[in-house]
Amino acid sequence: MSQGIVKISVDVLYEFMIAVFTRTGLSKPDAKACADVLIKSDLRGIESHGVGRLRMYYERLNAGLIEPHSSLTIVRESPTTAVIDGNHSMGMVVATQSMQMAIDKAKQFGMGAVAVRNSTHFGIDGYYPLMAVEQNMIGMSFTNARPCVSPTHGTLPTLGTNPISFGAPTDEECPFLYDGATSITQRGKIEVLARAEKPVPVGWVVDSQNEPMIDADDILQEILQDQAALLPLGGSSELLGGHKGYCLSTIVEILSSALQSGAFLFQLSGFDPEGNPSRFRVGHFFMAMNIENFLSVDEFKKNIGDLLRTLRATRNAPGQTRIYTAGEKEFEMEKIVKQEGVPVNKNLRKDILFLQHELGLDEFIFHD
Ligand SMILES: NC(=O)c1ccc[n+]([C@@H]2O[C@H](COP(=O)([O-])OP(=O)(O)OC[C@H]3O[C@@H](n4cnc5c(N)ncnc54)[C@H](O)[C@@H]3O)[C@@H](O)[C@H]2O)c1
Repeated sequence: MSQGIVKISVDVLYEFMIAVFTRTGLSKPDAKACADVLIKSDLRGIESHGVGRLRMYYERLNAGLIEPHSSLTIVRESPTTAVIDGNHSMGMVVATQSMQMAIDKAKQFGMGAVAVRNSTHFGIDGYYPLMAVEQNMIGMSFTNARPCVSPTHGTLPTLGTNPISFGAPTDEECPFLYDGATSITQRGKIEVLARAEKPVPVGWVVDSQNEPMIDADDILQEILQDQAALLPLGGSSELLGGHKGYCLSTIVEILSSALQSGAFLFQLSGFDPEGNPSRFRVGHFFMAMNIENFLSVDEFKKNIGDLLRTLRATRNAPGQTRIYTAGEKEFEMEKIVKQEGVPVNKNLRKDILFLQHELGLDEFIFHD
């Protein structure tokens, strides 16, 4: 295969992820919940948040930054709302249980909203609205993250890449799913470029003097020293991050911290004031809306299907052959990856072999 890329079967990779998590102390159901989110990312072609992050979770679990035995505390609850403390458990476990709670509330009362504090990184944001979509609901998910994005007119990495995700069922095979960071790019894409030994495009990241940075390894190091920042969505030609991305990111930060008295901005750096590694205390916010409480599911699905088809049927820009709606590219990619396997380059392969060796997972064979 070209550029040292090999493809690993989805089933093999999924079982490997479960094995890594169980050997690191997670229960089988929790390991499965985590692997479900990671493999969904690989399936959807989101290289940044799948197997590429497995070593990161392993190292954080090993360092005691994440609790392997998940426990969630209900801090406050009403028929339609809840505040959850994740007690530093794996983010995917906290998030799937919290989203499920929002869905259950919506099933009973039409709406469910769950605010979470003291969680950890939960992978792709879009996984959780899809849980609601499967139940014929609209789902929304938000999370804050380690500071690496500057506010507009600033250069200090202050906000997380704070994604927003919104999913809804349609009368087509592919649900509508918007799932994206509120920064021009997200940290994971810089990691992917670093592994591929490729430069970062100008306009994604600036240094403390607002000059563009393009070396991926440098950027990942300098962010930790407050000397590099990703730019918020909608940046201008002067390389200043856009105010709309900055404000959307602030909204995500509010939803992920204020309702649950959770950590925000610099409190999520992963370091204590003495510079020692500390827990991340990530916050999330989940919402589910039961469509049946508004109109029949079929009517809604047709309404949204008509809307999306109208969008896709509009005039293409010169040189373009197709207009997409959110979630389509990833939905189509999922079919390809399922058949062909997950592409893994030489540096990612090194990480996989490192985990295999560390944990004695000799039963897995990764062919070249
Ligand atoms: N957990 C975290 O802390 C965290 C932080 C940031 C990002 N992430 C995850 O990283 C992943 C990637 O984020 P991203 O910002 O790079 O996403 P992206 O820019 O690749 O895609 C964002 C959205 O745009 C849609 N899209 C793409 N091209 C389109 C087109 N031509 N027309 C219409 N829609 C189109 C996609 O379907 C997707 O929903 C997401 O899954 C996100 O949740 C996680």
